[in-house]
Amino acid sequence: MANTVIIGAQWGDEGKGKIVDMLSASSDVIVRFQGGNNAGHTIEANGKQTILHTIPSGILHPGKLCLIGNGVVLDPFVFLKEVDGLNENGIDTSPRRLGISYKTHLIMPYHVALDKAREAYKAGSKIGTTGRGIGPCYEDKVGRVGLRAGDLTNPDLASRKIAAALVEKNFLLKNLYGSEPLDAKTITDQVMAIAPRITPYLTDVSGAVQESVLIGKDVLWEGAQGVHLDVDHGTYPYVTSSNTVSGCGSTGTGIGPNYLQQVLGIAKAYTTRVGAGPFPTELDDKTGAFLREQGHEFGATTGRPRRCGWLDAVVLRESARLCGLTQFALTKIDVLRNLPILKICVDYMYKGHRIEYPPQGENALAEVTPVYEELPGFTEDISHCKHMEALPYNVQKYIQRIEALTQVRIAYVSVGPDRDQTIIC
Ligand code: GDP
Ligand code: IMO
Ligand code: MG
Repeated sequence: MANTVIIGAQWGDEGKGKIVDMLSASSDVIVRFQGGNNAGHTIEANGKQTILHTIPSGILHPGKLCLIGNGVVLDPFVFLKEVDGLNENGIDTSPRRLGISYKTHLIMPYHVALDKAREAYKAGSKIGTTGRGIGPCYEDKVGRVGLRAGDLTNPDLASRKIAAALVEKNFLLKNLYGSEPLDAKTITDQVMAIAPRITPYLTDVSGAVQESVLIGKDVLWEGAQGVHLDVDHGTYPYVTSSNTVSGCGSTGTGIGPNYLQQVLGIAKAYTTRVGAGPFPTELDDKTGAFLREQGHEFGATTGRPRRCGWLDAVVLRESARLCGLTQFALTKIDVLRNLPILKICVDYMYKGHRIEYPPQGENALAEVTPVYEELPGFTEDISHCKHMEALPYNVQKYIQRIEALTQVRIAYVSVGPDRDQTIIC
């Protein structure tokens, strides 16, 4: 496995966890580079389901080094809960194989409180965040007042930062949002109580990745969310607060872009989105309900029902451009079984013109009309297929059409949630 960045090519929940887990078998290092516990990455292996929010999806493979990069925002309480859960299942989460960058910003209880208070305050214009404090934590990072994982080795610095943060946050919580203020000492005590469990994980992630690459080990960069939730290139303002494009693999771990040899985009065979924002191919009908039902489209983090719609090749084409995709993994194609017709959005109509890429203005995606192409469906059970040739003709045609529309090769086809239900093309 070459050094590979793995990103979601749509609006998240494409099956990144499954593919990262599968590819971890032939890799040595797995590093998360952005996002936080807004992510929910599901792995099914040996009859067991594991959902990871902060820890890289390579952790189930013994001996693989799993790292959390500087681009991630980490809730230390959630991290420890995840560590405990994995330990109960016999998974080694010791600092020998799990590391956190000194530079990773920490999500504090006041970030979570602000995230929730703001969403409640917004009434009609909610983003539909996961309420995990992601936005407020990244705001403190770029505002140069954030608490970083390395600060936990310096109790004076950590308590000063928490106290300073609360002067501002409590003003907002109390006076603007009408919520309860938080107590600096209580939070400092809670954080310092868990610090001895976090600090052994502190690592120079940039150095560890460089060292691994130089001795010929293979590295996977695990993205969270999806390209169209990117804070710059996504459907702003209905986005997350980090860069989700492949370039963040470099900045979010501290390694030159020339280390990233391949860029694998994970694309669902249809489209889903959680939270608010434009979604041109959304289906508010019985086909949408069918996809939600068959695909079990309920959030791995919040349990919210996911909005469902047809595959959008325009969205995928833009993901290919923004990320330099070298290949796709196409997931959940088994879910399309028994639909008589499969539609693919091949272009958009926008202000009377047919366009191949999304329009660039804010919320312009809400004004496009999809141009659909119809392909015949399939009724066969494909969940046990192991080779491309074993797939029904109509499934092969669907896959080939996506390749032609995006000019990106499909290297993996996933036909079920299990690690083993994957065709290598
Ligand atoms: P991630 O956030 O991109 O890791 O994706 P999620 O874990 O949030 O959502 C993907 C869901 O689809 C999970 O429940 C997976 O177990 C499941 N899944 C992944 N690949 C397939 C597939 O090929 N077929 C089916 N039926 N389910 C899949
Ligand atoms: P994974 O890694 C799907 C969405 C939220 C909301 C927007 C902003 O599992 O694919 P945030 O809490 O980040 O400020 O919310 O982004 N969102 C996701 N949607 N999958 C995710 O992660 C997501 N992480 C955030 O629903 O619309
Ligand atoms: Mg998810």
